[in-house]
Amino acid sequence: MTTEHDQRVADTLDRLRQAQAPAQVEAIRIEALGKQGWVSQLMKTLGAMTPEARQAEAPRIQGMRTRIAAAIEERKEALEAEALERRLAAEHLDLTLPAPEQPLGTVHPVSQVMDELAEIFADLGFTVASGPEIEDDWHNFTALNMAETHPARAMHDTFYFPDTGPRGRRMLLRTHTSPVQIRAMMEQGAPLRLIAPGRVYRSDSDATHTPMFHQVEGLVIDRGIHLGHLKWTLETFLRAFFERNDLVLRLRPSYFPFTEPSVEVDVGFALEDGPRGPVRVLGGDGDAPGHGWMELLGSGMVNRRVLESAGVDPDVYQGFAFGLGVDRLAMLKYGMDDLRAFFDGDLRWLRHYGFGPFAQPSLSAGIGARA
Ligand code: PHE
Repeated sequence: MTTEHDQRVADTLDRLRQAQAPAQVEAIRIEALGKQGWVSQLMKTLGAMTPEARQAEAPRIQGMRTRIAAAIEERKEALEAEALERRLAAEHLDLTLPAPEQPLGTVHPVSQVMDELAEIFADLGFTVASGPEIEDDWHNFTALNMAETHPARAMHDTFYFPDTGPRGRRMLLRTHTSPVQIRAMMEQGAPLRLIAPGRVYRSDSDATHTPMFHQVEGLVIDRGIHLGHLKWTLETFLRAFFERNDLVLRLRPSYFPFTEPSVEVDVGFALEDGPRGPVRVLGGDGDAPGHGWMELLGSGMVNRRVLESAGVDPDVYQGFAFGLGVDRLAMLKYGMDDLRAFFDGDLRWLRHYGFGPFAQPSLSAGIGARA
């Protein structure tokens, strides 16, 4: 008996070792440990034995069962591991395949508007420049003719770093994109024609102000540049951006330390009935009945002290500059009303207001084409 059973166990373990598929292992399990399996049948014989015989036989049969069960488990795991290895070796991702027809992500309205700006200004011969978001106070303030006592320098408006940077300059998060004017003039010299979109930071937070927002700077430096060039450029740009040829600009005297003269630019709008009350629709003479003016951006002729700071001869070169809020442009064009939602990362908002990733804005296809 004993040797016959031992032989059968050895034979089972042997066949398990040779099994090449989970189905073979399962067949061996049923044959030995299944309800009708031979080990299970042996277990059943224990009931009919005398207590003495049972005491001797029970551990022996249990032992056989345990050894076979352990061997089955072991072989199963080994086969599963081999199968996984084979799968990993065979599977690969082909990144050159075309993307799915329904792309999962969307382009954020801020990115979309920045692409639109680049497209419009590229057509006017502008390049796209950038500068660091971590700036020093010389580029952000001093070189832009902002006095040590200028209120914008105050701690409660500007995020300063605790440590000073190179040349002992105070480091800060840039409060506007205007320092890119200085960097571009110093690096490239005159003449120049550029826009500089990017993030800016101010210690400010409510429904219309977030501590981080986006601006786009514009700068043109050449011989004989005057306010007329500024007005034509802004008018051409805004008409292309809002896709309205009846857009009217109003230039209002203003003050910025880095421009002289400085002008605030308003655009005319008409009050029209919307589903939830009157809405402002851009276009038309703001002084006409039922119309008004909306302040849009700051600009002016580059102050000669700024040109001097950046190493450009103000007796040879003149220029104009402008700066405007990209988020605000996006809100006006695409009808969002809460700036904070721009930076919440809420997927529902992104899917609703986002743009198709393959719908690159182009002058020929329409600057604001929605995909
Ligand atoms: N830097 C100004 C601001 O942040 C905008 C501006 C840029 C005004 C260029 C004039 C010229 O408000």
